Amino acid sequence: MELLYEGKAKRLWTTEDPNTLRMEFKNDATAFNGEKKAQFEEKGRLNNAISTLIYGMLEKEGVPTHFVREIDETNVEVRKLDILMVEVIVRNFAAGSFCKRTGVEEGRKFSKPIVEFSIKSDELGDPLVNDAYITELGLATEEDLAFFRESALKVNDLLIKFFAECGLQLVDFKLEYGRLCEDPSVIVLADEISPDGCRLWDLKTGEKMDKDRFRRDLGNVMEAYQEVLERVKKASQA
Ligand code: ADP
Ligand code: TMP
Ligand code: ASP
Repeated sequence: MELLYEGKAKRLWTTEDPNTLRMEFKNDATAFNGEKKAQFEEKGRLNNAISTLIYGMLEKEGVPTHFVREIDETNVEVRKLDILMVEVIVRNFAAGSFCKRTGVEEGRKFSKPIVEFSIKSDELGDPLVNDAYITELGLATEEDLAFFRESALKVNDLLIKFFAECGLQLVDFKLEYGRLCEDPSVIVLADEISPDGCRLWDLKTGEKMDKDRFRRDLGNVMEAYQEVLERVKKASQA
């Protein structure tokens, strides 16, 4: 089958069905919009397994996603989408670029979740934007933005609860959405949900269990992902 797209962490392949794709998780890791690069054996397998279990939970809870089925250890079948070029970020605690922008110390709990949008563009460094930028640029409509907010907050509630059962604090995460190729009136959750795009702290020790271990050279990156997978597996079976 044909390689449709190669990104920083995944490849998209066509399938016999024009409305579905094969999404392959690579072992490549990048940070700071591709500036920092490395390879980790097992990363593709770990992220695929974690993301598949989380998408299973979300689908069960009534969140429409692109997920169809797991093909093998590093591949899933997904519904083909036109991705909306907006990253939807939800924050429960201060971390990362929020701290950089505001000077607030890492770890402050917010009184309610913050939803923010950035333009999905490595060249521009995924700039933070408001609703007017997005509608003016034609990246999404006001209706789409209202849907993003409602859906992302629902996903946040579900993920907070699920990760708490894993002994993990959900600090923040990024979501992507897309329109079904076969019916552009329908928007569903896209991409992956894994320690690459979430901040997860151990509830007891506060230890970072996500891609910040790579971003900040904390070591034991895959050990942390493996531990997240073990816990997610257990919570999924409970
Ligand atoms: P990036 O493009 O940022 O380097 P990845 O390496 O993760 O990221 O590549 C995966 C790409 O596939 C992303 O650009 C993502 O928006 C896109 N994508 C995710 N799910 C789907 C889908 N169901 N249909 C089409 N594109 C998708
Ligand atoms: P940030 O604090 O760097 O803005 O990141 C917020 C969350 O979004 C964090 O969990 C990491 C995730 N994220 C991505 O998955 N991809 C990105 O390109 C960026 C900037 C953040
Ligand atoms: N997702 C971006 C990258 O892979 C930014 C980050 O995660 O730090 O470069």
